[in-house]
Amino acid sequence: MDTFVIEGGRRLEGRVTVNGAKNAALPLMAAALLTNEPVTLRDVAPLADIRNLQRLLAELGCHKAEADPAQPAVVKLQTTDESCSHARYEIVRTMRAGICVLGPMLAKRGEAKVSMPGGCSIGDRPVDLHLRGLAALGARITLRGGDIIAEAPAGGRLHGAKVFLGGPFGSTVLGTANVMSAATLAEGITIIESAACEPEIVDLADLLMKMGAQIEGAGSPRITVYGVKELKGADHRVIPDRIEAGTYMCIAAATNGNITIDNCPLDAMMSVTDRLEAAGVHIRRMGHNRQGDPAPEDPMRVSVKVTCDRILRPVEVTTQPHPGFPTDLQAQLMALLCLAEGNSVITEKIFPERFLHVAELSRMGAHLFRQGPTVIISGVRRLVGAPVMASDLRASASLVLAGLAAEGTTVVNRVYHLDRGYERMEEKLNMLGAAIERVDDKSLTDDQRGG
Ligand code: EPZ
Repeated sequence: MDTFVIEGGRRLEGRVTVNGAKNAALPLMAAALLTNEPVTLRDVAPLADIRNLQRLLAELGCHKAEADPAQPAVVKLQTTDESCSHARYEIVRTMRAGICVLGPMLAKRGEAKVSMPGGCSIGDRPVDLHLRGLAALGARITLRGGDIIAEAPAGGRLHGAKVFLGGPFGSTVLGTANVMSAATLAEGITIIESAACEPEIVDLADLLMKMGAQIEGAGSPRITVYGVKELKGADHRVIPDRIEAGTYMCIAAATNGNITIDNCPLDAMMSVTDRLEAAGVHIRRMGHNRQGDPAPEDPMRVSVKVTCDRILRPVEVTTQPHPGFPTDLQAQLMALLCLAEGNSVITEKIFPERFLHVAELSRMGAHLFRQGPTVIISGVRRLVGAPVMASDLRASASLVLAGLAAEGTTVVNRVYHLDRGYERMEEKLNMLGAAIERVDDKSLTDDQRGG
C-alpha cells in the first residue's frame, strides 16, 4: 500500500490549478444513463472514484470512448446496451457514490438493481431519502439480498410528484441528484422541496438542461422539473472542485506560504473564505491567470493568491449544508486551527462521527478535545511529525496538511484514500516546494510505519 513520507516545515510557494470537481463529475457521468446519445464531459479529474464509476457504468452498458491522449480530462460516455441494470456490491462497496446510477437507470429503463452502499469511516450512509423520493415518483422499491430493486409502474414511466427530501441532517446531495435526474423523464411535473443547494447540483441541472430537460430552481431548496419523453446527448465542462481549492487554501496558510490557485470556484466558497479570513488568511483575487490573460469574468473560475498572518487567530465553525461551511473541509480546517493562537471550536452537523483525524492529529502534538459532534482545538506553537493513519478521503488531506506544517518527518499510511479525491497530490505539492515521497509501505521500517 502506498504511503507518503513528508519532510515538514517548508513554506509552499507557487501556482496550482484546481481540477474539475469529483462530486460534480460522478452524478454528471451517471446522467449518461438517461440517453442513448453520447455525453461528453470536460475537466474530469483522473481520480480513483472516477475510474471506479467508469467501471460500473461499463457494466451497465454505458461505455467510455477511447480517451484522446492530448485531452485526458475529456470523458466521452455513451449508453449502447441496457440489458444489464445491476450495480454490483463489489463496486458499490468501494465507492458509495455508485448509488447515483439508481435514479437515471430507473427513469430510462424502468428498472434498476443497485447494491445498498455500506457505511464508511465518516459514519452511516443511509439512502432512505433517495428511496422515499423515487417511491414518490411511482417506483416500487424492494430490498433483497443487500440490493435495492426499483421498478417503475407498468409501462415503464415514472410520474411527477411533490417530494420532500429533508432529513435529520438537512438535505441529501446525491439523493437530490437521483430524484432530479429521474424526474427529468417522468410524466408530469415534480417539485423537490428541501433539495440540496450544493454547486454540484446546479452543475448537474446545467448538464440535464443541455440534454433537453426542463428544470427550474437548481441551487435553491425548491427544484421544479417538467418531465420530457427523452433526453439527447450533450457536451459539458465540470465545475472546479471547491473542496480541492479549499484544501490548498488551508495548506498555504498552514505552511505560512504564498500560493496562487487557478480555476478556483470562489463564488461557491463564501462560507470557506469567511472562516479562513476570520482566522487571518488573506485570499486575494488576481487580475491575471497563469497565462497572464486578464482574469475571466466567470466567478466560478478565478485565480486567487493565498497568504496569511504570521499568527493565526482561533475561529468557531459549524458544518452545514451549502451555502454553509462544507463538511468536506472540516478535517482540513481542523488541522490548520491546530496552529492558531487560542481555542477554536468545530461542530460537525452533517456527519457527527467524522472525526477519525482527531486521534491522528493528536499523535502529532495537537491539543484536541472532543465532546460529541464538537471538537475544541487548543492551538499549539508547532506540530511534530509522526507516523499517522489515513482513514477517509478528507481526513487524509488533513494529515498531509499537518505533515507539511509539522517539524520533522510524517509518514501518512494508506494514502489510497487520498487518491480517491486528489490527483497525484504529492506531485502538485512538491511543485510548490514540499518534500513528499510516495513509497510502498513495505519499504519502511516498523518504526517509520508506526506499526
Ligand atoms: C455527498 O455525499 C458528497 N459525496 C460527500 O463528499 C459530502 O460529504 C456530502 O455530500 C455532504 O455534503 C459526493 O457527492 C460523491 P448526503 P452524499 O446524502 O450525497 C444523511 C467527499 O469527501 N442522509 O448529502 O452521500 C447522511 O447520513 C464525500 O468527497 C440521510 O439521512 O451525502 C448525512 O448525515 C464524503 N438519508 C447527511 O444526510 C439519506 O437518504 C448528508 O448526506 C441520505 C443522506
